[in-house]
Amino acid sequence: MRKILSTREMLKQAQKNRYAVPAFNIHNLETLQVVVEAAGELKSPVIIAGTPSTICDYAGADYIVAMAEVASEKYDIPIAIHLDHFEDVDVIKNYIDIGFKSCMIDASKKSFEENISIVTDVVQYAHKYDAVVEAELGKLIGKEDDLIADEKDSIYTNPDDALEFVNRTEVDSLAVAIGTAHGLYKGEPKLDFDRLMEIRNKVSVPLVLHGASDVPDELVKKAISLGICKVNVATDLRIPFSNAVKKYFNEHPDANDPRKYMTPGKEAMKEIVKHKIIVCGSNGQA
Ligand code: 13P
Repeated sequence: MRKILSTREMLKQAQKNRYAVPAFNIHNLETLQVVVEAAGELKSPVIIAGTPSTICDYAGADYIVAMAEVASEKYDIPIAIHLDHFEDVDVIKNYIDIGFKSCMIDASKKSFEENISIVTDVVQYAHKYDAVVEAELGKLIGKEDDLIADEKDSIYTNPDDALEFVNRTEVDSLAVAIGTAHGLYKGEPKLDFDRLMEIRNKVSVPLVLHGASDVPDELVKKAISLGICKVNVATDLRIPFSNAVKKYFNEHPDANDPRKYMTPGKEAMKEIVKHKIIVCGSNGQA
C-alpha cells in the first residue's frame, strides 16, 4: 500500500534517469480514474494535477484527496497530488496546512522581483511542512514563433534570470517558457531548445514544461532529453473525452445514464493518457 506522495522524489528520479513524470489535469472521479488506471497499467509514476477551478470550486479538495488516496492503495505506483497554477498565497498555505505536499505558485504575470518575493514566501512556508513548490518564470502566451531575439527575451525564460530566481527563492522546480502555450496552437509550435539547454546548464532544479498538449511528440521528447522532468497535459485529454461523449449522444440522443455516456469518454481519454506516458518515457519507472 502506498501513500500520496510529494512530487520531490518523483522528479529527482526522473531527472536522474532522464525521463519526465506526466502531470495530468483531472476534474472529477472519472478523469482521475482514467489517469491512475492508465498509469497503473504502464507502471508509471503519475502526478494528479488540479487547478483552483477544479480543487476549490468544482470537485473540492476533500473529494480529490479521498479519491487519490483510494487510487494509491489500489495501484502500486507513486501518485502525487499537485496544486496547479494557484495564484493566491493564502489559499496555497491553507492547503499545505491540511496536508497537500506539492504546489505551483504562479506569479509569472508579476514583475521579476514580485515573483521572487511571492515565491519565496510560499517556499519558506511549504518547506516547514515538507511540501514542494513549483514556480514559473517567463510567460506562456505562445504564438511567439516569429519574435526576434530581444522580444523573446522579454517573454521566454531568461537563463540568467532563472539562475538568480532559483537561488533567491530556493524553489524546488521551475516551469520554463520556451515557446509552449496552454491549449491548441494555430501552427506547429516552435520550441526554443537552445534556451532550454542554457537554462538546464545554469539551473539544477527539475524543469517543467507546461502547455504540452498539441505539441508534436518528437518535440516533447526532445525537450525531455534536454532536461524537462515534468510534462503538464490538460487539453489533449479533455478533447477526446468530450468528443467521445458527444459522439455517444449523437448516436443515442435519448441517453440519460451517465455510466453509459461517460464510458466512451473514459476509454478515449485512457488511450491518450497511455500515449503521453510513453512519450514521457515514464512507463516502467514506478
Ligand atoms: P495544456 O492544456 O496545453 O496541455 O496545458 C496544461 C498545463 O500546462 C497545465 O498546467
